[in-house]
Amino acid sequence: GRTAALIPAAGSGTRLGRGPKAFVEVAGRSLLARSVAALAPYVDEVLVALPAGLALSPGVNARAVVGADTRQGSVHRLLHATSADTVLIHDAARPFLPERVVLALLEAAAETGAATAALPVADTLVGTESGDSPGRLWGHLVPREGLWAVQTPQVFTRAALLAAHTAAEREGFTATDDAGLIAWQGGRVRLVPGDALLFKVTTPGDLALAEALARNVEA
Ligand code: CTP
Ligand code: MG
Repeated sequence: GRTAALIPAAGSGTRLGRGPKAFVEVAGRSLLARSVAALAPYVDEVLVALPAGLALSPGVNARAVVGADTRQGSVHRLLHATSADTVLIHDAARPFLPERVVLALLEAAAETGAATAALPVADTLVGTESGDSPGRLWGHLVPREGLWAVQTPQVFTRAALLAAHTAAEREGFTATDDAGLIAWQGGRVRLVPGDALLFKVTTPGDLALAEALARNVEA
């Protein structure tokens, strides 16, 4: 069957503070252009959700739809805009995408119908004490054994993901990613080893890291 890459890129980039984040450049190339180019070789079509009023830059080979107020809403619109059997969802904000991860995800999802990139948590995890200002006082330790940090890409059977989105919208359920919606529906999601390179550009520090990486790798 056909496979589409769906790229939610309609966020405003509040934490980065540089305007609509997908259009922010790293070493002369936008996060969105990087994500589109990384995925195009593996799929039949690429669709992106953009902020209202913005258009794809020339040379970015994709189809654009207008995004929604939330990431979940933006993905929901992308799902309605394709008839592909399999969809690969990837944040525009994760510009470095190893081929190994894409291939492993497509293979895993062909078996289980749902798969996401994820990495074992390496840092110590702690909850802060209630009543204190956030992040100020150590509360309780959260054992990190068995905990994984979820990344994108995530690959799904389109019909199953669309059903999950439709149910979530109807019932007012929200999740930060698409695997979370499938799991909420009782579906099984396979975890595939992700990559440190798949970090999400969220803060100015992340952008500096991305710049350094791009200059190093592309030099
Ligand atoms: N996204 C989207 N539509 C939204 C919000 C987010 O398509 N209404 C996309 C972003 O463009 C990004 C991905 O979802 O590629 C992950 O979101 P995030 O990193 O939170 O990006 P922003 O929402 O833009 O950033 P912030 O939360 O700091 O405003
Ligand atoms: Mg956001």
